[in-house]
Amino acid sequence: MTVDLRVDPYPWYAELRSKEGISRHEQLGWLIAKYDDVRQVMADHNTFSSAIFEGFSSELGLNNQLSSMDPPRHTQLRSLAQHAFTPKAVAALEPRIRTMARDLVDEAIRKGSFDFVDDIAIPLPVNVIAEMLGVSEVDRLRFKHWSNTIVAASLRLLHGNPEELPEHIAAIREMKQYFLERSMERKQNPKEDLISRLAIAEIEGNRLSDLEIVEFCVLLMVAGNETTTNLLGNAVRTFLEFPDQWRLLCEKKELIPLMLD
Ligand code: HEM
Repeated sequence: MTVDLRVDPYPWYAELRSKEGISRHEQLGWLIAKYDDVRQVMADHNTFSSAIFEGFSSELGLNNQLSSMDPPRHTQLRSLAQHAFTPKAVAALEPRIRTMARDLVDEAIRKGSFDFVDDIAIPLPVNVIAEMLGVSEVDRLRFKHWSNTIVAASLRLLHGNPEELPEHIAAIREMKQYFLERSMERKQNPKEDLISRLAIAEIEGNRLSDLEIVEFCVLLMVAGNETTTNLLGNAVRTFLEFPDQWRLLCEKKELIPLMLD
């Protein structure tokens, strides 16, 4: 996707929706814009296989990613993490996430001036996901670096621009090694966290392979970072552009869930 499209994708989305059926983009793959088409594609993993990204992921040394799998293995692995992300489970995290957000805001205020993206939108998702996985506080800065590196490497490959990849692959190797060591520890001494759950889980009597555990952790760490940082940053930017909407939300807090939809 070009930068222009990222800044304002809506005319392009409207054009896609105005066309019948689905189409294919040279770089982005299938373009599916309408609800009924999405339902059809989601139900047909033979024609629309997620394993189409296997080559892409394996160049990064990520060969066992949930997001590049089809059923039945995808369904089995996904069910292991699913319960951690149900609406009820996520709602239960709210008090802790509020505390983390307040701590970051307090720290930003203490500094006198701050950058919303660097000081809040970046660290908040890292802290939340790291805590869910069971990554200690001292290791979290390394995680943001690894996570950024993986996203940057994926974009380079997607745009057919693979220079500097060895550096990225080294970072991915470090992250995998980190999770391998943690998963070995948790097999011996399980705790109440997602790494432990994956390390001791059994599917039809079989444990996950070390690689499956490690790459699941990498995916969780990366998937929630860039996405949530962008969501938070774009939300604040949008409120600055439309201050009347901000005032409306402040007056009617019951509208907040609608804003998130
Ligand atoms: C605004 C925030 C987010 C957005 C916009 C977003 C978007 C997406 C999209 C579009 C996919 C599908 C990718 C594909 O099939 O190729 C996906 C998959 C996934 N996301 Fe997110 N995501 C967000 C937050 C998160 C968070 C917080 C987590 C958890 C830590 C997460 C974990 C995952 C996982 C595990 C998958 C793979 C699911 C599967 O293959 O079954 N995401 N996300």
